[in-house]
Amino acid sequence: MRVLLVGSGGREHAMAAAIARSPALEALFIAPGNPGTAALGTNVAIAVDDVPALVAFAKAERIDLVVPGPEAPLVAGLADACRDAGIPCAGPSRAAAELEGSKSFTKEVCDAASIPTARWERFDAAAPALDFVRRRGAPIVIKADGLAAGKGVVVAMTVAEAEEAIRSMMDDAALGAAGQSVVIEECLMGDEVSLFAFCADETAVLIGAAQDHKRIGEGDTGPNTGGMGAVSPPAGFDRARQEAALDLLVRPMLAEMARRGTPFRGVIFAGLMLTADGPKLIEYNVRFGDPEAQALLIRLQSDLLPALASVAAGTLDAADIRFSDDHSISIVLAARGYPGKPAAGGVITGLEQAEAQPGVHIFHAGTKRNDQGQLVAAGGRVLTVCATGATLGEARSRAYNAIPAIHWEDAIWRRDIGDRALRAATENPSR
Ligand code: AMP
Ligand code: GLY
Repeated sequence: MRVLLVGSGGREHAMAAAIARSPALEALFIAPGNPGTAALGTNVAIAVDDVPALVAFAKAERIDLVVPGPEAPLVAGLADACRDAGIPCAGPSRAAAELEGSKSFTKEVCDAASIPTARWERFDAAAPALDFVRRRGAPIVIKADGLAAGKGVVVAMTVAEAEEAIRSMMDDAALGAAGQSVVIEECLMGDEVSLFAFCADETAVLIGAAQDHKRIGEGDTGPNTGGMGAVSPPAGFDRARQEAALDLLVRPMLAEMARRGTPFRGVIFAGLMLTADGPKLIEYNVRFGDPEAQALLIRLQSDLLPALASVAAGTLDAADIRFSDDHSISIVLAARGYPGKPAAGGVITGLEQAEAQPGVHIFHAGTKRNDQGQLVAAGGRVLTVCATGATLGEARSRAYNAIPAIHWEDAIWRRDIGDRALRAATENPSR
């Protein structure tokens, strides 16, 4: 099979590594890729959201399967353009990608499919929104309706904070068009976990679950990031509970999307809160998470490529997909300054030594080769150091023990990835 993978992050390097192991692979192209994917296939300089150029390349190279990594190409209509060109694509149409692109769309689907989620209301003007939060009180959650690059959600602990969020989204247009309407939600309490499944029309096959660490600072402090590390599975959320959550929060959504004539094909990422009343949906993303994908895919035992092809073809079958029962962890090495302005250009060495350690895998994200061919930092999140182990404790020590082998003076990383899950597992071993 000739494959075009779209993206350039650690997630895509992990996907490329799994695809490259497939006996069915003839050629792998990655647009635009990174130095890690360059070792597994051919990087091509096309931006992830340049849909016409991606489709033209896929036609010219007789690509059999397009695999989108991030949401941007999906929201831009990559899957639709592939369908029009007769090229299978393992991602959702633009209409189905609305599950990630619009908060109010997702809430309407949840209501139609009786999926447990926070109670909500949508507002197109600031005055009634302000009135609503004053009546409801805090804590309360304010969300820009459209895609806002992870900056569109404010969990307000006070009414003043909620008012400030509404004013900045709606009056000051701090998020542009994305904030012109807002969804205001009940604040859910509990542990947050992410559930992943391959989906094709009304079939969902469990991939697994992970817990992200979104804040830059240890102890979940400081600004939000794209994710600084993940563990899989989360403490107390075993495969039986993950399957039950698929039944409750994903399969009814697939049925509703099919009923609307916009069936979903691709990877679904359901963010959920494990509340005292059971799991409730926070949001869907229409793709793998980053760095969750890295932690999940290093446990994949079956062949990823036919699974993705069956997603695209609508012939997905659980029998073809197997993950090990190991635990895994991913730790992001970011460049000093991230999530603000990251330090660029620092030389990185020692990756081979780090990766030679048992169970350890390293994925590139914001790296590049300089004029001398040296590997240097060129982004916010630069590397993901991952490991598997029989226990989370083992996976965690393997990953943390590998980091000192990497020489890069601008690296910052959290020292507490997995600590909360380890504590929960120790305090409550029966969960
Ligand atoms: P989202 O962009 O929808 O992923 O929201 C970002 C983060 O805000 C989530 O990962 C949660 O931590 C938090 N969040 C969103 N909605 C709620 C809610 N209804 N209750 C509590 N926390 C929420
Ligand atoms: N790590 C969260 C995401 O990929 O959206």
